[in-house]
Amino acid sequence: MSNAAHDRFAPSEEFAAQANATSALYGQADADREAFWAEQASRLHWDQKWGQVLDWSDAPYAKWFVDGTLNVAYNCADRHVEAGNGDRVAIHWEGEPGDSRAITYAELQREVSRTANALAELGVGAGDRVAIYLPMLPEAVFSMLACARLGAMHSVVFGGFSAEALRSRINDAEAKVVITADGQYRRGKAMPLKAGVDEAIAEAPSIQHVLVVQRTGIDVQWNDAHDKWWHDVVDRQPDTHTPQAFDSEHPLFILYTSGTTGKPKGILHTSGGYLTQAAYTHHTVFDLKPDTDVYWCTADIGWVTGHTYIVYGPLANGATQVIYEGTPNAPHEGRHWEIVQKYGVTIYYTAPTTIRTFMKWGAEIPAKYDLSSLRVLGSVGEPINPEAWIWYRKNIGSDRTPIVDTWWQTETGAIMISPLPGATAAKPGSAQTPLPGISAKVVDENGTDVGPGGGGLLVLDKPWPAMLRGIWGDDERYKDTYWSKFADLGFYFAGDGAKYDADGDMWLLGRVDDVMNVSGHRISTTEVESALVSHPNVAEAAVVGASDPTTGQGIVAFVILRGGVADEAGGETALAELRDHVSKEIGPIAKPRQIMVVPELPKTRSGKIMRRLLRDVAENREVGDVTTLADSSVMDLISQGLHTGA
Ligand code: WT7
Repeated sequence: MSNAAHDRFAPSEEFAAQANATSALYGQADADREAFWAEQASRLHWDQKWGQVLDWSDAPYAKWFVDGTLNVAYNCADRHVEAGNGDRVAIHWEGEPGDSRAITYAELQREVSRTANALAELGVGAGDRVAIYLPMLPEAVFSMLACARLGAMHSVVFGGFSAEALRSRINDAEAKVVITADGQYRRGKAMPLKAGVDEAIAEAPSIQHVLVVQRTGIDVQWNDAHDKWWHDVVDRQPDTHTPQAFDSEHPLFILYTSGTTGKPKGILHTSGGYLTQAAYTHHTVFDLKPDTDVYWCTADIGWVTGHTYIVYGPLANGATQVIYEGTPNAPHEGRHWEIVQKYGVTIYYTAPTTIRTFMKWGAEIPAKYDLSSLRVLGSVGEPINPEAWIWYRKNIGSDRTPIVDTWWQTETGAIMISPLPGATAAKPGSAQTPLPGISAKVVDENGTDVGPGGGGLLVLDKPWPAMLRGIWGDDERYKDTYWSKFADLGFYFAGDGAKYDADGDMWLLGRVDDVMNVSGHRISTTEVESALVSHPNVAEAAVVGASDPTTGQGIVAFVILRGGVADEAGGETALAELRDHVSKEIGPIAKPRQIMVVPELPKTRSGKIMRRLLRDVAENREVGDVTTLADSSVMDLISQGLHTGA
């Protein structure tokens, strides 16, 4: 660890004096957790107030704000208009080609109402599922909130996922409608998007309608039976819609994430508790001042960060935010800083992989722009290395801004562990402290707290409002994945390793299961292995995440080719074909960085692949202890016979 890790960065006196949260909040939450969360829930408009704050009697299924009713979309748009803030910009949308659109809260309310009316016309009602496969367009936000308004669940599928991945998610949730766009801009080019939907729904019998936003004007195939243009159906709708209040535990959305097996899990979130924690954390962790701040979260709406910190948290808080359609280098590597300067962004939230990419491009690029408006910086998705933290603070934060390193997961719904920007003396690389109202521990295999200086597994030992309410259609997997490891203690097992430093601050150390973290995206090793073995040339495959200076981890695959094909298929083109095959099966983010052709895979006597040894090979280390291998000569064979393609 570098020396940077030992530095401390306390907030300035001015910042601390104006901060939304002081350290008094910890004590307040500890004194009476439920009263604390009830106070946070009062940030929202409830049609009917809850009776009980938390019902944990059916653990691990929590009920928060029992018998309370609310409409999530009303909370994110209408009530700000009713409070006199209809003219405030909700979204400064910036298109990749440079077009832009400012959407006020009054317009947001009208657009969401129109979209809700359109979806209702297409037969969508409470409890139905709607798949959303869109680029970063305002229509993505309108669609999500329109579902929430109707009590329908959205299942947003990242636009970078393949047709195959989209199909499996549509089928798992039995979605009725899919909302997409003709195409999407990627680094100056219009790329097809609807084509993937056409392919996906060929075998998705639940889909009745495809609603298509025209973004790029590229050619699309049209099927009159189910395809409808957004501008034909939505634009002619009335711009008012009366929201109905739903139960606090009414399902809000499903979001798929990778687990340790091949099949992605549909993480289920509900309404009142989720929105409460989204709003509270967004207010507290980012120190949001809705009247003056311009907030920007660079995530895609297809990930949970986009759900909670682009749509629900900021809009529930009446924030003004930037949404950017494109990549950070389109058309040039200063694009983010140009946007910060243009809109006077004050709060900027991104991922370590993006920061490391900026480091690679060079500090002279941000130096060309006026970044003096920035006052809080955030990081999410993977542990941030102290060097990247320091670079971020110095080159983006003018050596002045607090940085919040926020640990959370798709499953937790909202931030759980993070510094408070006005109260914490930050340590580069450490997420430090569970937020007021949240409880987390580092424990050993028996569930005993390891105490300062100790290392082990991260657990959440008390229920929290935004916690997942299950895995769609798979209760057993829900209990098994998160609650079986420490069943007697009732701890939620996060899947992350962690340690405490001598001060008792937490350091997150990455996944302890077979889940990789590539550019902050979760991809399971088994998912990529299944994709590889679905190719006719592959007999067996093993995949590991090898450390990568930019993306955190890179995907390295070891494959055994089928008899006879080894010679011709081992060549560069054949390996390139395999990489493309994975991209087609899952999406470009899952493309292996490198594929190595091997004669054997290292397995234990019980047949389990020893990924640890393969990781040694992938990271060019001396291979570790091989005594538990069924055949200890395998590793020699692998090292001698390597045939690699990158
Ligand atoms: C996994 C969750 C939460 C939104 C983005 C990812 C890792 C996330 C941090 C952080 C260290 C982090 C963990 C976690 N992770 N944030 N600040 N420090 N690790 O959501 O795809 O559900 O992934 O990301 O390993 O388990 P996700």
